[in-house]
Amino acid sequence: MKKSLSLLLIGLLILGLVAVSGCTDTAGTTGTDDETVSEMPVYVVGTEPYFPPFEYADENNSNEIIGFDIDLINAIAADQGFEVTWKDLEFDALIPALQSGQIDIIASGMTITEAREESVDFSAPYINAGLALAVAANNNDIQSVDDIQGKVAVVQQGSTGAAKADELKAQGLISEVIYLAHVSDVIMSLQNGRGDLTINDLPVTNAFISQNPGVIKIVDDQIQSESYGFAVRTGNTELLNMLNEGLANVQADGTYDQITDKYF
Ligand code: ARG
Repeated sequence: MKKSLSLLLIGLLILGLVAVSGCTDTAGTTGTDDETVSEMPVYVVGTEPYFPPFEYADENNSNEIIGFDIDLINAIAADQGFEVTWKDLEFDALIPALQSGQIDIIASGMTITEAREESVDFSAPYINAGLALAVAANNNDIQSVDDIQGKVAVVQQGSTGAAKADELKAQGLISEVIYLAHVSDVIMSLQNGRGDLTINDLPVTNAFISQNPGVIKIVDDQIQSESYGFAVRTGNTELLNMLNEGLANVQADGTYDQITDKYF
C-alpha cells in the first residue's frame, strides 16, 4: 500500500515536470527574442559547402556558408514564407540524409539525373552546368578527351563527374578512378601528380581557375551537358510545389538575375 502511494507520488511529480516544461516551451514561442517567434515552417537544407560559387564558406567568416544555391534558396523561402536552416554533409551522404528525414531539401549543385530521380524528386532545373575535363596546367600529354587512354581520373565521390569517369573506364579508356570527398582535394591530386585528369562541373572548375590561375586548365568544356535541381523526398509535393513556385517567382521578378550577376 505504502509502495503504491509513493509510486503515485512519483507519477504525479513526473506529470508536474512535464507540464512545467511544456509551459516554458509555450512561453518561448510567445517570447520576442528568438527564432521561435516565427510561425513559418522551417526546413532543413543539406549541402556540401566546398563547391564555389554554388556553396562555400565565406572567407570573412568561415562559419557562414554563402553562394548561388544559398541565395537562391533564401530568396525562394522568403517568397514562399518558409525558413531554412543549413546542414553541412558530404555530397554522397545528401540523398541518404534526405531519405531518412535528416534533411528536407538538397541544394548542392546537384545534377538532375534519371538514376537520382528513382530516389528523390527534383524541382524544375534552375541552372545549366555541364561537365568539363581538366588537367594540371603543366600537363601537355592530355590535349582533349582523345588522350585519356590509360590515364588516372580523380573525381568527387558520388558526383556525376565520378559517374562519367566510371563510364569512360568501363569503355576501356581511363585506367583508374580515384574518388575523393571534396573538389579541392581532387585539384590538389592533379597538382601533386596522383591523378592525371578530373571531370568536374564547368562553372566550379572555371571559378577555381579564376581564383587560382596556373594550377589546372580545362581541355574539354563539353564532356556532358547537365542541369541542377533542388531535391526533396519522393512524394513531398507540397514542398516541391513551393520550391517550383518560388523559383518561377524569383526568376520573374529579377532576383534570380541579381543572384547570377553576384556569383558569375
Ligand atoms: N553536379 C554534380 C553532381 O550532381 C556535382 C555536384 C557537387 N556538389 C557539391 N556541392 N559538392 O553530381
